[in-house]
Amino acid sequence: MLPEILNLKKTSGDTTVRIWSAGCSSGEEPYTIAMLLTEKLPPNYKFEIVASDLSLKMLMTAKEGFYDAMHIVGVPDPYLKKYFDAVPNGYKVKDTLKSKIRFDYHNLKNASPWKNFDIVFCRNVLIYFDEATQTGVVNHFWDSMAAKGFLYIGHSESLFGMDTKFEFVKTQWTTLYKKWT
Ligand SMILES: C[S@@+](CC[C@H](N)C(=O)[O-])C[C@H]1O[C@@H](n2cnc3c(N)ncnc32)[C@H](O)[C@@H]1O
Repeated sequence: MLPEILNLKKTSGDTTVRIWSAGCSSGEEPYTIAMLLTEKLPPNYKFEIVASDLSLKMLMTAKEGFYDAMHIVGVPDPYLKKYFDAVPNGYKVKDTLKSKIRFDYHNLKNASPWKNFDIVFCRNVLIYFDEATQTGVVNHFWDSMAAKGFLYIGHSESLFGMDTKFEFVKTQWTTLYKKWT
């Protein structure tokens, strides 16, 4: 979806891609996104990532950016070399990558102060809420997103039957919705 977002931005002159990792837990998701955007965005674009969670403990773990060998499995070698320092018992995310992410406390049950996100990732969080709360959370995302933005949720989650305006995007690899307006 990055080419689609960049194409939209071309017409508006906006050169910043804005991402929200909502319910970021120990930080694997925002760091992965930061590595990929650093590698894949054309040079005239920049990006902003907000990573939020309700758990201060998780936010501290995410900010620390330490992962043991088990949690680093799957990170390609060139990325490991470029974005991590080897430390005793594991790897630590380099400060240059950390500085690209704003970690912040946010309860998803409340409206967020953030706006204009091109992509919101909220994977494996909605499952913890009842249906009315899920609807509220998802509608808060709508208000925080740019037109034509994308919303990722977990594989086992769905907005089916929910009173939201998001449109389902069929893909083989994830559960994806789009803000159609
Ligand atoms: C199962 S983890 C999912 C982490 C990550 N998104 C993933 O897919 O690996 C759920 C996360 O949601 C956070 N969470 C639960 N309730 C929340 C709420 N009301 N507001 C914000 N985050 C919440 C938890 O603290 C936890 O870090």
